[in-house]
Amino acid sequence: MTSTSVQDLRVAVTGAASGIGAATAQRLKALGWRVACLDRNLAGARATAGADGIAIELDVADEASVVRAFKEVGASFGGLDALVTAAGVIETTPFFETSVAQFRRLFDINVIGSFLSVREGAKQMQRGARVCMIASISSYTGGGYVARGAYATSKGAVLTMMKSCARELGPKGIAVNAVAPGFIDTPFVASAMNDPVRRKEVEAAVGKVGTAEQIAECCAWLISPAADFVHGETLIADGGILMR
Ligand code: NAI
Repeated sequence: MTSTSVQDLRVAVTGAASGIGAATAQRLKALGWRVACLDRNLAGARATAGADGIAIELDVADEASVVRAFKEVGASFGGLDALVTAAGVIETTPFFETSVAQFRRLFDINVIGSFLSVREGAKQMQRGARVCMIASISSYTGGGYVARGAYATSKGAVLTMMKSCARELGPKGIAVNAVAPGFIDTPFVASAMNDPVRRKEVEAAVGKVGTAEQIAECCAWLISPAADFVHGETLIADGGILMR
């Protein structure tokens, strides 16, 4: 990226069917980016992409699927200027009830899924490209609101991976950063909030609930040329939870 304009720059967004990924894809489109919407929910990705947009089905936990999806992105766009990795799942099972299968599923999607997306996305990139990964405030707190340990651990791993990707890709001229959202009102937490006891605990703990659009703004800035001196960093957008 040489100018400060994002007009016609090419970005792929994983998790684009819902919540933060969908809001980010919409915001980037409005700013002039060409957006490829990737999700395991193809209908949702299509809804975000719109009639003339690009929507591709992928399961981030499935290596062959990620390889194929990013090849498709490359074929459509002829390369990528940016990537936002927003696909993810949550797990709210308490510590002693958490099974190894649940723990592994979180790692497969949140950790391996982010790794595969950056690895395959970066293959489509040249110097000046930018990556924004989505971690979580629970990367810092170990959970405590809706999320429990297995989820928080997976998001801690995402932050560490972001730093390691920044080291690996930095010399190739690709910037890698992360956003760590606080409690954001999306379907992700809505399902976890169905338990009235948990809901009360969460509301008392977080105070301020954010919107997907507020996180989209952070992602849009981190992949924009305006952020070109920022590398290997995390933008915490939590409405001040850590200051409470
Ligand atoms: P969401 O549930 O609204 O959206 C997640 C999207 O990821 C969905 O479209 C889903 O289909 C997709 N997805 C899930 N597994 C996938 C897979 N294996 N392959 C491809 N796509 C897959 O959730 P939300 O809130 O938008 O979450 C987005 C990211 O933000 C997640 O990584 C989450 O951990 C993170 N986050 C969310 C917070 C919140 O309070 N909502 C707080 C902190 C982080």
